[in-house]
Amino acid sequence: MPFPYKVVAITGASTGLGRELALQLAAQGCKVGLIARRAELLEELAQQIRDQGGHAAVAACDVGDFAQVKQAVDSIESELGPIECMVANAGIGMPRERLVFEAEATAQIYRTNVLGMMNAFYAVIPGMLERKRGHLVGVSSLASYQGLPQDGGYAGSKAATRVHCESLRLELRPTGIKVTTICPGFVRTPLTDRNHFDMPLLMEVKPAVNRMLRAIARKRRIYHFPLRMWWIVKIGLATPRWLFDAVLSAQTANINSGRTQAFSDGKAP
Ligand SMILES: NC(=O)c1ccc[n+]([C@@H]2O[C@H](COP(=O)([O-])OP(=O)(O)OC[C@H]3O[C@@H](n4cnc5c(N)ncnc54)[C@H](OP(=O)(O)O)[C@@H]3O)[C@@H](O)[C@H]2O)c1
Repeated sequence: MPFPYKVVAITGASTGLGRELALQLAAQGCKVGLIARRAELLEELAQQIRDQGGHAAVAACDVGDFAQVKQAVDSIESELGPIECMVANAGIGMPRERLVFEAEATAQIYRTNVLGMMNAFYAVIPGMLERKRGHLVGVSSLASYQGLPQDGGYAGSKAATRVHCESLRLELRPTGIKVTTICPGFVRTPLTDRNHFDMPLLMEVKPAVNRMLRAIARKRRIYHFPLRMWWIVKIGLATPRWLFDAVLSAQTANINSGRTQAFSDGKAP
């Protein structure tokens, strides 16, 4: 199915899913606007896309700051034309050591994952409303469905993005602007490279992005993948809490022993 938009902006385009989204979209003939903080990585990616005959514009900014995001969107639109699809993909996670709580680290997760997504959307919504068309894509996570120890900031922020996307979808329905929420399971990227535990059904980035693009092109309301991981999440949600908590405690003990080892090896963030 051909991708239905010609100008697409992607936040978090410097690595991982965002980078691969940009490469695959550019290969399909889309002009891509690349947003993240590390300008040098974005420039390298833009050059790679141009060398392959594509079009890319770079706008380095922190998605947590609306003024910066608005400036980035204006600069991309002046180079490539009106943004038809905004993929709010920038996100961070910072799994903690047990019982170590840092307010600023959690605030940074919410600022990037939740406000960062809203900033990206709010910067393009006025133009999309005028044109009566556009597509907002929020990258949430299967982790948004279940609170997990030591990762509350990430799971909570992803639940907030998912629910906020759903609210926007309902509000924007009569305007011609579509909203899609994507909930991936584990995908091998710099984000998950830091995990020191077994990640069930871990996917490679290319097939993951392939699926995300298909879901966006089909204008899906919400897309969970891989399907088997989504079923595991659903079974977990339907499991009596006492049983779930007992299984999780055993799992967490394993993860913690892996983390303790990683911290002492100096590998953990
Ligand atoms: N990989 C997975 O298993 C998985 C699963 C579910 C959901 N997700 C979600 O998928 C999205 C992409 O993650 P990924 O796995 O591709 O991780 P990644 O490779 O670490 O990419 C994260 C991207 O976000 C950007 N970013 C972080 N903070 C930013 C900020 N303040 N302002 C602007 N850009 C910022 C980073 O670029 P700079 O550092 O250059 O700014 C980077 O390009 C995230 O929202 C993540 O939560 C991933």
